[in-house]
Amino acid sequence: DQTQQNALKKAAGIEAAKIVENGMTVGLGTGSTVRYLVDELGRRTQEEGLKFTGVTTSRRTAEQAKGYGITIVDIDDVDRIDVTIDGADEVDSNFNGIKGGGAALLWEKIVATNSDKIVWIVDESKVVDTIGAFPLPVEVIPFGVGHVIKKFETRGYKPTLRLDADGKPVLTDENDYVVDLHLGRIDHPEDLGTDLINTVGVVEHGLFLHMVDTVIVGDPNGPRVMTN
Ligand code: A5P
Repeated sequence: DQTQQNALKKAAGIEAAKIVENGMTVGLGTGSTVRYLVDELGRRTQEEGLKFTGVTTSRRTAEQAKGYGITIVDIDDVDRIDVTIDGADEVDSNFNGIKGGGAALLWEKIVATNSDKIVWIVDESKVVDTIGAFPLPVEVIPFGVGHVIKKFETRGYKPTLRLDADGKPVLTDENDYVVDLHLGRIDHPEDLGTDLINTVGVVEHGLFLHMVDTVIVGDPNGPRVMTN
């Protein structure tokens, strides 16, 4: 249930916080699992005098981290990021996965691809054999989004425009829309990724392939660290 799942997310977040050392530049992801990570890093900052520099993947995470007195800088003000710790919506045994359930996939991918090391923190329910049961988020420019959606329909991708509780399109931190693809399973993620990124109007998609070094899984028997 929800309480159990949150406990597993928290355990993974706390375990991942151990990676962070004084002087590091750390990419901080987005989502409910990362919230626990940032809480723990905030605690270490305040109680243990931990000093590191954070680069965030969303305004939400920046606000939370600054609230703890963690130093947050712009990605263009750092040469490199030592490690990025982020959540994910699904991950398979090859460490390929889906992100963007929280609409932050674009900044997340930019931060990830500028990091020496990438660590994902997930609860056990997100570890799957084949990705795709979770709808694949695609960030799309608002202008002409209807035509992009029609193209996706023609290709059998079962797209839906993501709406908020008021029925308005969800906006990303770059003021783009999110189109979710209800694929069921993704057998050829490389081909799909290429097709999506070559569709004009698409900014980025939530397939994160061949990027992740370590996955920390919140498991009822304790956090499991899996290394690629
Ligand atoms: C944000 O856009 C996502 O990529 C999140 O990292 C992902 O959805 C995981 O979020 P939770 O930790 O809330 O499940």
